[in-house]
Parts: sequence; structure tokens; C-alpha cells
Amino acid sequence: MKIVGIQSSPRGKQSNTLKLLDAALNGALEVGAEGEAIDVTKLNIKYCTACDSCHETGVCSIKDDFNVVLKKLLAADGLIWSSPNYIKNVTAQLKTLFDRSPLIVHEQLFDGKYGFSLTTAGSGEVDFVLDIMNNYMINCGGIVIGGVGCAIAQGPSALLAAIEKSQEMGKDLVEAIKKKRQYPEQEDAHKAWRERFKYVLIANKDHWMHNCDYWAEKGWIQE
Ligand SMILES: Cc1cc2nc3c(=O)[nH]c(=O)nc-3n(C[C@H](O)[C@H](O)[C@H](O)COP(=O)(O)O)c2cc1C
Repeated sequence: MKIVGIQSSPRGKQSNTLKLLDAALNGALEVGAEGEAIDVTKLNIKYCTACDSCHETGVCSIKDDFNVVLKKLLAADGLIWSSPNYIKNVTAQLKTLFDRSPLIVHEQLFDGKYGFSLTTAGSGEVDFVLDIMNNYMINCGGIVIGGVGCAIAQGPSALLAAIEKSQEMGKDLVEAIKKKRQYPEQEDAHKAWRERFKYVLIANKDHWMHNCDYWAEKGWIQE
């Protein structure tokens, strides 16, 4: 079983959020998974140019490190998203990765994958940032098991507690994957999204050929 963790703080080894991610990956390792952390701040990931070619061909036209990350995300069973709170949002580096994901969303490529999110903030507002990452995961067809956030202003004991919680959530992620744990609300949300998006696909069928072929293969639309 493979778990991939995304790190997006530009502070490298100084990052508090990385401490949570390391703990989560260690937790997963302790119960037998393989783990890999990807630091997106060190990669060359350009902005989406909205060229639409991924929907036509299934391939992003921009040749940079995104395609390497995408392969790793798609090969993983579990995904851990992490970002510090930057102005009540994720870092620009993580948002840039999210914006490169239209193919993942249109084809629900995280279908069958489980994940969770981690954040730290100076003062608070951790839930808002966790929701941004978890909503992205769900929007891509994945299932979310929870999130861990820490307000650094609450002191070292709060950070230690969040590190421990992250480690436990790493273990729980492996358990959720093994048991194919059910989350009926999220599964209903996926079904409702596919039902709505079907009409967008049909309206664009002349140029979103790859998307349409994929949906037909999945049995989500009739050709
Ligand atoms: C550009 C920037 C914006 C930030 N915005 C917020 C914010 O809106 N709310 C907050 O509570 N903390 C904010 N912070 C503080 C960071 O979220 C906090 O220090 C976090 O723990 C840093 O994580 P890191 O050590 O993983 O880089 C901001 C920090 C920076 C550098």
C-alpha cells in the first residue's frame, strides 16, 4: 500500500506543518504502508493556462514537474495534503497544483483513494484551511477521513498533541484503505456531482473527447 504526502510550506525543514506530515507518514509506515513525501515548493509547477487539452487528450500540454507528481498521486492508495494557513487559504504552491487538476476532477481520478489533510496556523482558523484541502480531495472523487490542525500560538504542547494526532490519523488512513471504509455522505456527494456534471460533458462532447470516452468506459454515460 502506497501513501503519498504533499508538503507545501516553503520553510523546508523548519516547517511546523511538515512535522505533522512526517508524523502522519510515520504512522502509516508503522502499520505496514510505504510512504513518500513530495515537497511541491521545490518543484517546477507552472500555472494552468486553461488550454483545455487535458480534456481533449487526457494529457496536460505543459511539460513540467506536475506530470511526475500526477503519476505518483494516481499510483497511491492514500493521499495526505498539508499546508500552513496563508491568509486563510493554502499556500500558492499548493493552489497551483490544485489548479492543474481539471483532468483529475473531470474524470474523478481519485475515485477509490482515501486521504486527509493537515495544517498549522499562527493564530487559528485551521478548519477553514482543512476544508479547502479536503473539499479538493472530494471534488476529485476521493474520500476524506478527517484532518488535523494546530494553532501555533497555543504553544509547544498543542503542537505535540497535533503531531500525535497526525500519527494516529496516518495509521487510521491505512485501516480505512484496507477495510474500504464507507462514507455514505461523501459517496452521495460524488453521485450527485456526476449527475450534474454529465450535462456539462454532453454539452462539450465535441472537444472533451477524452473525458467522454472515460465516462463511457466507466458506465457513467451512454455513448
Ligand atoms: C504569508 C503568510 C500568511 C499567513 N497567514 C496567516 C493567517 O491568515 N492566519 C494565521 O493564523 N496564520 C497565518 N500565517 C502564519 C502561518 O500559518 C504559521 O506560522 C504556520 O504555522 C506556518 O507553517 P510552516 O511552519 O509549516 O511554514 C501566515 C504566514 C505567512 C508566511
